[in-house]
Amino acid sequence: MQATGSAELRDVYEEQYSADGDDAARYGRWRALCADGKADHVVRLAGALGEPPRRIAEVGCGDGVLLELMERRGLGDEHRGYEISEKAVTIAGDRLGAGVVERFDGEHLPVPDGAYDLGVLSHVLEHVPDPLPLLQETARACRAVVVEVPLEDNRSASRPEAERGRQAIGHLHRFNRGHVHELCAAAGLRVEAELSDPLPLKVHTFFADSAPARAKAVAKAAVRRGVYLASAKAAERAFTVHYACLAVHQ
Ligand SMILES: C[S@@+](CC[C@H](N)C(=O)[O-])C[C@H]1O[C@@H](n2cnc3c(N)ncnc32)[C@H](O)[C@@H]1O
Repeated sequence: MQATGSAELRDVYEEQYSADGDDAARYGRWRALCADGKADHVVRLAGALGEPPRRIAEVGCGDGVLLELMERRGLGDEHRGYEISEKAVTIAGDRLGAGVVERFDGEHLPVPDGAYDLGVLSHVLEHVPDPLPLLQETARACRAVVVEVPLEDNRSASRPEAERGRQAIGHLHRFNRGHVHELCAAAGLRVEAELSDPLPLKVHTFFADSAPARAKAVAKAAVRRGVYLASAKAAERAFTVHYACLAVHQ
């Protein structure tokens, strides 16, 4: 069943960061693999800012791996994370040091207006029942915001099997590019730069545990990349691509 209450939602994320042993290692590798592409996206989009961001906050930073990769890529020299899951904050503390990531209520960031040069909301807004207030709060605390979401308002993602998969991982919204533009405008932000990504082969094949499953994933990745290269817009209508934009105050 889909969780919609805030306590239920919190439990969904505590569970997602609570795997043990081999599962914990595997999900950790999966998050790191995905964060690699996300960090590239943030670095590319931050290039459209007048000057490089120094203070960076990631809101809904999970286990902190994206923060770590932004730091390794030399983006920013002060990094802070905010997260609703206690388990994720503990994992992030082991990774980044105590205090870098702080637990918050999912609504209010404990900092003054404009405290950060850049805020990052990466794969968070699709998890939040009402995404606008969290985007507004991030925009209050940050001079610019990178928003990244999967665009799931497409034919493939409307299959019942895909719908069940989305519910299992806590996605409450199926965004298209226009929805993200509308959210940014409603938060008083202008989209300054944007990109989309059909995702690399290593992401498509990560969970393929057998030779047939791998062959299927390789074929699917190749078809998707071909469609995407022919027309990014057609790709967005047909299957899920990741979308990221840099939004600045109007
Ligand atoms: C898919 S993970 C993304 C983690 C990280 N941002 C990344 O891109 O790798 C979604 C994260 O959003 C967090 N989250 C869910 N609802 C939230 C809310 N209202 N405020 C902040 N974070 C939230 C979850 O706890 C989870 O860590």
